[in-house]
Amino acid sequence: MKVLVVGGGGREHAIAAALSASGSTIYSAMRNHNPGIAGLSQEFKLVKETDVDKVVEFAADHAVELAVIGPESPLEVGLVDALEAKGISCVGPSRAAARLEVSKSFTRGLMRKHDVPGNIEFEAFDDLEAAKAYVRDHDEDLVVKPVGLTGGKGVKVMGEHLLTKEDAVRYLEDIFAHNIGGGGVVLEERLVGEEFTLQAFCDGHRVIPMPLVQDHKRAYEGDVGPNTGGMGSYSQEDHLLPFVTPSEKEAALEIMRATVAAMEREGCPYRGILYGQFMNTRSGPRVIEFNARFGDPEAMNVLSIVSSSFTDICAAIAAGSLSDKDVSFARKATVCKYVVPQGYGTSPAAGKEVHVDEVNIAAMGARAYYAMVSEENGRVLTTTSRAVGVVGIDDSIEAAEKACEKALSYVKGEAIFVRHDIGRPEVIRRRVEHMETIRS
Ligand code: AMP
Ligand code: GLY
Repeated sequence: MKVLVVGGGGREHAIAAALSASGSTIYSAMRNHNPGIAGLSQEFKLVKETDVDKVVEFAADHAVELAVIGPESPLEVGLVDALEAKGISCVGPSRAAARLEVSKSFTRGLMRKHDVPGNIEFEAFDDLEAAKAYVRDHDEDLVVKPVGLTGGKGVKVMGEHLLTKEDAVRYLEDIFAHNIGGGGVVLEERLVGEEFTLQAFCDGHRVIPMPLVQDHKRAYEGDVGPNTGGMGSYSQEDHLLPFVTPSEKEAALEIMRATVAAMEREGCPYRGILYGQFMNTRSGPRVIEFNARFGDPEAMNVLSIVSSSFTDICAAIAAGSLSDKDVSFARKATVCKYVVPQGYGTSPAAGKEVHVDEVNIAAMGARAYYAMVSEENGRVLTTTSRAVGVVGIDDSIEAAEKACEKALSYVKGEAIFVRHDIGRPEVIRRRVEHMETIRS
């Protein structure tokens, strides 16, 4: 099958690799010249992923049968609606269904209206003065979220990023003055617990889970420093996490099923990948947010161990005929660490050469996925974003972490940085102990 992959990051390299391994012929549309995706593609076009007309034209010119959309920005501008209007089916929600990611007020409101479990206390505001008054009148810590997309960098938590009510008020003023995330804001209850990600395949009706993953958003070891798009992630061989029980995973899945059912009732069925970000709290999983796509890096964990045909899964999502039988994952643990430019999160050093010894990494059974690098005259150069995702795969998180480190020794470059603590036993132990304190 001829499949279009949209996007040029590590997530999209993993998508293209899984599609290619299951027999698809890949066409790709991306902003940067990602050498991994380009190497797997029959043809690729360098284009802004939000340039709907050009992406649709490229897909139509090559008689592509199916499109898999990696990032959220093309979903927000209606790429799926435009491709479907040309008869190209998509793994990715329509513009209306992508509101689950694109509008935090839509999602919280939907969950409230349809009594979806896992929702939390919140209020949405279009008006700065009303939002300021809410903060001033509220005694507990709140979380301040711009309503729209901010590349994962707009959320600020009182008690963490905002130390006083006045800090929160100043941030609200900033959001409205600079139209951050479109202007409006959601103020919500601050949750305490351990975060995890549940990604699922959805065909508009059915919701089939993938292995759980935990991402690491903070830039530096020990979970300090600025929030980033994600520095690395791990998954466990039984597809749970060390601090998540089977019934907690089931509860998270029920929340996602109820959300997809609510979307169907609202007349905009959700088709594509649904990403649930949860906080595992004392009283079970609560929704932090939904994304309308695979996570990056989380896609690299799960797509490295998908053991059924990913092409068939994508075709079934698009056709609305997904079944449990279509989906299986190897019982393996994975640890993914992102190689990023030095200074990523604050002032990244772009334009430095990075070299990946793909042969040796493949020989040891690990994976390397190129991310926001660009190939120029045969050299792979970093940009201001994440460069290469390296995934170790083995029978336990501990062994997968060691495999990841060994694979990382085959990535060389100037001015690069890795959070080596991801997946290490002491970090995992800290998470488990934290969860135990919360439960007690
Ligand atoms: P988001 O962009 O919504 O994923 O938020 C970024 C990060 O902010 C999350 O990964 C959490 O660490 C934190 N966060 C978001 N919402 C909450 C909440 N209600 N309570 C506590 N932390 C939150
Ligand atoms: N890793 C978080 C995200 O993809 O949004």
